Amino acid sequence: MKKITVLLSVLVLALGILAAGCGGGDKKEEKKPAAAPAVKEELIVGTEPSFAPFEFPEKDSKEFTGFDMDLIRAIAKEMGYKKCTIKNMGFDALIPAINAGNIDVSIAGFSITEERKKQVIFSQPYYKSGLAFVVRKDVNDVKKFEDLKGKTIAVQLGTTGALYGEKLKDKGSVVKTFNTSDLACMELKNKGADAVISDLPVLQYFLKNGGSEYAKLAGEPLTAEDYGIVISKKNPELAKGIDKALDALKKNGTYDKLYEKWFGSKPAK
Ligand code: ARG
Repeated sequence: MKKITVLLSVLVLALGILAAGCGGGDKKEEKKPAAAPAVKEELIVGTEPSFAPFEFPEKDSKEFTGFDMDLIRAIAKEMGYKKCTIKNMGFDALIPAINAGNIDVSIAGFSITEERKKQVIFSQPYYKSGLAFVVRKDVNDVKKFEDLKGKTIAVQLGTTGALYGEKLKDKGSVVKTFNTSDLACMELKNKGADAVISDLPVLQYFLKNGGSEYAKLAGEPLTAEDYGIVISKKNPELAKGIDKALDALKKNGTYDKLYEKWFGSKPAK
């Protein structure tokens, strides 16, 4: 009798566990994500930090600083990430890294273009920019873009400025391509180039911080371009999250505060 009782209770117990493991368990799992707050571990961001005042090395530190850096850190915080890690890569390596899943997003003064939109998702625009060019101070015969024919022009690889420079190639100009924006400007200083085509706010910052000793703006701005944060097409949810966070930061004044910190004025409405 005793044996039978023990056997029976074991059986009942086993059945109970089995039942819990089936139907009951599923329900628990369904509820879990809704109940738990969305704490996300880490947002991995790629950038090319030779692009002050958007991304550049912070003095006496291993960190990167700039408008983009502050903005993406604020976005990560707003989205509930515990950590925002910023990786330094070549500008032309950023979109491939997004598509390979090596980084989650890229913020790098990326202009929103139709060509890039075929490969990635852009967030809503976060900064109004555009191309312009500087020439060496001793170059006095360049008043407009067309005057760059026959000159040597330095650009950064993979940028809209590099693409714009291509227009001059069949006009007898030499276009020299560099891995970083800093190296393109250095070429001007070393008299290896007559002009640099780049983004206007970056050229303005460069002139203000020593560049005006050997360079000057010439001609009118060449284009109007909007910057967007880059996300993989495989991750539309992340893109939505970034846009939502940007909306929140625009609404709560954080965006304006960062804009003023880096550009000294409120963004044009
Ligand atoms: N706005 C330009 C582009 O999208 C230049 C961006 C360069 N960015 C950088 N971090 N170096 O092509």
